[in-house]
Amino acid sequence: MDPAIAIVPMGLGHLRQVLDLGHEVFDTTVKPYTSWSLTSVAEHLDSPDNACWVALDSDRVVGFVLGSMEFEHRDDWAYLEWIAVAPDMQGLGIARRLVDMCSKALFARGARRIVTDVEQRNTASATLMTRNGFRPAATVTLFVRPNPDEPEPDSADEALPAIPPGAKRALIRHGRLAGEGRAAR
Ligand SMILES: CC(C)(COP(=O)(O)OP(=O)(O)OC[C@H]1O[C@@H](n2cnc3c(N)ncnc32)[C@H](O)[C@@H]1OP(=O)(O)O)[C@@H](O)C(=O)NCCC(=O)NCCS
Repeated sequence: MDPAIAIVPMGLGHLRQVLDLGHEVFDTTVKPYTSWSLTSVAEHLDSPDNACWVALDSDRVVGFVLGSMEFEHRDDWAYLEWIAVAPDMQGLGIARRLVDMCSKALFARGARRIVTDVEQRNTASATLMTRNGFRPAATVTLFVRPNPDEPEPDSADEALPAIPPGAKRALIRHGRLAGEGRAAR
């Protein structure tokens, strides 16, 4: 643990750096129902029961976690939705501290479970969560049927275009992603 890195509650003044860091490290093409945007951050900031922290190296935001007491249809489940650490600061235990801080706050507010969902190939995130008390609970596979009249795309990424902000929650509400996240982000 690096004591020079302070973990403090996220405020409006951190918004720009949080947004930029997310754009730098998140690969939302692997989960095409998610999107990283100003809305993703602002919605958390706007929520009175948010559990959001940033890791600061002096004035520089080198990591963040965005959590909330809102997990779709479960009033007593919380959601750790986004976590990131700057590439040059990874491997120093910063994410571990962020997860710990966020989880303690959510449990203190009455959460019975905290949900997070991890894309299968994201080893760093899966290890981080496993080491912090999260256990796999359900697996959802995104099945994709290409249009036979369309030429085959060069890569899997092209076959899975990003969905606009807010669409993920709408899909879950409409039952089209009912299993996702309800068990393990
Ligand atoms: C996932 C991420 C936040 C981890 O941040 P980090 O500060 O490097 O993680 P930590 O140093 O706190 O490590 C936590 C644990 O995960 C393990 N870990 C971290 N990176 C790892 C990797 N690439 N492969 C395997 N294990 C890894 C560490 O060994 C540590 O385990 P330990 O406590 O038993 O030693 C960071 O890799 C990241 O920002 N990734 C891109 C964004 C992302 O995918 N976020 C998750 C989806 S929202």
